[in-house]
Amino acid sequence: MKKMSIVGAQWGDEGKGKVVNYFSDRFEWIVRFSGGANAGHTIYYKGKKYVNHMLPSIMPNSKSKGFLGAGMVLDLEKLVEELNVLESDFPGMSSKFYIDLEAFLVLPWHKEEDEIIESMRKKPIGTTKRGIGPAYTDKVSREGIKLYYLFDEKMLKERLKDIYYLKSSQYGNKLTTSKEDVFEYLMKTKNELEKLKINYASAVEMGNVFRSTSVLFEGAQGVLLDLDFGTYPFVTSSSCMAHGVSSVGFSTFELDEVYGVLKAYTTRVGSGPFPTEIFGEEADKIRELGKEYGATTGRPRRVGWLDLPALRYAKIRSGLTGLVITKADVLNGLDKIKVCTHYEVNGKIKDTPSSSYDFFVAKPIYDELKGWKDTNDINFLKYLSYIEEQIGVDIDYISYGPKTEEMCSKNNLILNMENK
Ligand code: IMP
Repeated sequence: MKKMSIVGAQWGDEGKGKVVNYFSDRFEWIVRFSGGANAGHTIYYKGKKYVNHMLPSIMPNSKSKGFLGAGMVLDLEKLVEELNVLESDFPGMSSKFYIDLEAFLVLPWHKEEDEIIESMRKKPIGTTKRGIGPAYTDKVSREGIKLYYLFDEKMLKERLKDIYYLKSSQYGNKLTTSKEDVFEYLMKTKNELEKLKINYASAVEMGNVFRSTSVLFEGAQGVLLDLDFGTYPFVTSSSCMAHGVSSVGFSTFELDEVYGVLKAYTTRVGSGPFPTEIFGEEADKIRELGKEYGATTGRPRRVGWLDLPALRYAKIRSGLTGLVITKADVLNGLDKIKVCTHYEVNGKIKDTPSSSYDFFVAKPIYDELKGWKDTNDINFLKYLSYIEEQIGVDIDYISYGPKTEEMCSKNNLILNMENK
């Protein structure tokens, strides 16, 4: 039974939500394995826009079910909000979702800590302020709260007391959230989730289920924001690559395919290196045409040309076996398209960054290609072939608009061109 993972090949916001949604009908389970409410996966269904921060991107009318894995940090408030939106349009839909009891929770004090730490940083990361870094920090330093604590109030109260003691000695009165606030918040959201009839399960219980059926693993953010191999410290705090599936008990060797989603150009939100970044009118035009504003924070995204060294890096780091290109239509009508083919790194020409260090010092070297009128223009096909040759991975699918159905295989694109 097919196992496939879809990950972002750039700095996130590549359109993974829409791509996962496109494939979701073909899979029994859609599993999110990392990140939290920092992600914003947008899907359109029957003319309505749904932005999921927590939920896997399943099609509202499909038979597939969604699983929120232990590698995520769960924002229960956001989860309740999203489920309520879905319930009002598709009653009973919450029961299609299962959450791993081992997952850690983002608590109200994590959001406060995110604000405090960001405001004290000499070079702020530009986080989404969703408490992601502090929640993962607590997980690693063993001061986290797992979902299953909610079902043992005595254990939960003891843990909160111990953790609060450490936090208040660290932050003093800068931290306004008390342990009682957190307890109350958790009980309230737990009751709301119970009313919504969401399911709880562990990856241990789900292991055999997943192995015997088709599963699509939905990544969050993008390879260049990965905690280990992204442009550290300007990264998120979790794994953004296919190997994140280990948090659901899988190995990358069990994946039949790993699709990397890339935009026809590059964007990034927040601070950090961005070798192909452009400014001024050209950037503004692409930002407006591509509606490049964060789905989670509404911040304008930084914009740049396609970066092949970064994509080669993503391919190797995340073992990409195929590519899906999105937002190709945004570049329609440009005379020339610039593409970065190599980096100059401290005087050396490189086709692939050796480590994340290279992104900080890279000087981009560009090639210039002819633009296209629309995605049925032969120059667009040439652009795709050029990228494929340069990266060494096929572009199997093309997305040319925000709606789920605005996507086709490359073979269909070629057929359409031939029939024109
Ligand atoms: P955090 O994940 O909120 O801690 O933010 C760390 C960095 O990752 C910031 O630069 C964010 O803008 C970026 N980031 C986090 N989630 C996303 C996402 O879903 N898309 C794009 N950038 C993201």
